[in-house]
Amino acid sequence: FRRLGLRGMKQRLLVVANRLPVSANRRGEDQWSLEISAGGLVSALLGVKDVDAKWIGWAGVNVPDEVGQQALTNALAEKRCIPVFLDEEIVHQYYNGYCNNILWPLFHYLGLPQEDRLATTRNFESQFDAYKRANQMFADVVYEHYQEGDVIWCHDYHLMFLPRCLKEHDINMKVGWFLHTPFPSSEIYRTLPSRSELLRSVLCADLVGFHTYDYARHFVSACTRILGLEGTPEGVEDQGKLTRVAAFPIGIDSDRFKRALDIDAAKRHVNELKQRFAGRKVMLGVDRLDMIKGIPQKILAFEKFLEENPEWIDKVVLLQIAVPTRTDVPEYQKLTSQVHEIVGRINGRFGTLSAVPIHHLDRSLDFHALCALYAVTDVALVTSLRDGMNLVSYEYVACQGSKKGVLILSEFAGAAQSLGAGAILVNPWNITEVADSIKHALTMTSDEREKRHRHNYAHVTTHTAQDWAETFVCELNDTVAEALMRTRQ
Ligand code: G6P
Repeated sequence: FRRLGLRGMKQRLLVVANRLPVSANRRGEDQWSLEISAGGLVSALLGVKDVDAKWIGWAGVNVPDEVGQQALTNALAEKRCIPVFLDEEIVHQYYNGYCNNILWPLFHYLGLPQEDRLATTRNFESQFDAYKRANQMFADVVYEHYQEGDVIWCHDYHLMFLPRCLKEHDINMKVGWFLHTPFPSSEIYRTLPSRSELLRSVLCADLVGFHTYDYARHFVSACTRILGLEGTPEGVEDQGKLTRVAAFPIGIDSDRFKRALDIDAAKRHVNELKQRFAGRKVMLGVDRLDMIKGIPQKILAFEKFLEENPEWIDKVVLLQIAVPTRTDVPEYQKLTSQVHEIVGRINGRFGTLSAVPIHHLDRSLDFHALCALYAVTDVALVTSLRDGMNLVSYEYVACQGSKKGVLILSEFAGAAQSLGAGAILVNPWNITEVADSIKHALTMTSDEREKRHRHNYAHVTTHTAQDWAETFVCELNDTVAEALMRTRQ
């Protein structure tokens, strides 16, 4: 049954996530263009095939008028997407405020906002209210499209209140919730003023999933310590009702990346890059421009490496792609200027008339250009300070079939638990250690590179996004069936 997975499923799957896999740009009163959204959640879910799924979420744009809303709904329907329309005020309070200024930093161990504590505390209530209202708006769209027997799969920290809204509407809905970020230690989580309400809501789901066993364990501890409930090997029990909690490590559709490299556009990019950087080693960083990604620390480590190994100046280049994200949140604006300042200083310090050591781009690349970059670079630097999983590391490995480049990976990314044996693991806060790892990566023997790559490649190509989704949905079906049997006994 498990092997049949989603392919043999007659059920429909309603995926509910804050962001749709495509973001919309208005081109006229009723004209929209759609482009693929950034981020791990989208990258993974795009890799799930052969399933009757619809995706409910926000298109990343404010559409106040009915003509625009109708036109966008029609354009999205072709992509099997259903929009949730959020106005500017709710986006400000729910998305910029509660999600990205409070939950995101807290879940990544950066704590509650430090600056202007009083203002944050004052705004907290109104932002949490907006969060609940926004979750209810997602729930309303689910009710409209739900058919009996559908599986509803809620995603991420934006929608922790959704399982409760859904179950209160119809207790028989099959609801799963999956977190794409770390779930922090209960000692960190318990500082959140709305801690209990959110935990109780998530526990309304039938199945709760995380990327790693550690995150699942932290969640169960939070439920036992904060709510006084019983944690069992299966999950969390509350007055005889079990919420199943487990780890489901995500993956990518590695074939999609390998196939992309056979396309002419990608081959052209590969040739151009090879010519452009001939005679130099190339290191790559691809991140959303987010404080959890540790971009300033990474660049400082590269500076230290050049400082200590001057023979490498002019012989190595770091390409850092920093995709702009959440640009209305002040912390992200500050980070942009901080990164620009450091890059400028290092390029001034180590640049020559013929070359600069860092190429920094504040934008995303199209898919084929990105795959080409993954394929030609010698080293990837994934040095997040914390990261739920980090699929850039997987994408890099998938595209390195022939080159067998080295992956330097943060021990605080979920991916360290799956790619740890093949990657060079680092503590991203320790700049000296990262600088030494850069040297190790650049001078590694081909035997060692080959051995490390083989390990990672085997993992990335076998633990795919498809397997992840199939396992989660099958487990959800089984959990609901078992609960039903228990109530009948
Ligand atoms: C992370 C989150 C996703 C989010 C993505 C992009 O991967 O887990 O839920 O969609 O970042 O962030 P954004 O705020 O642009 O949706």
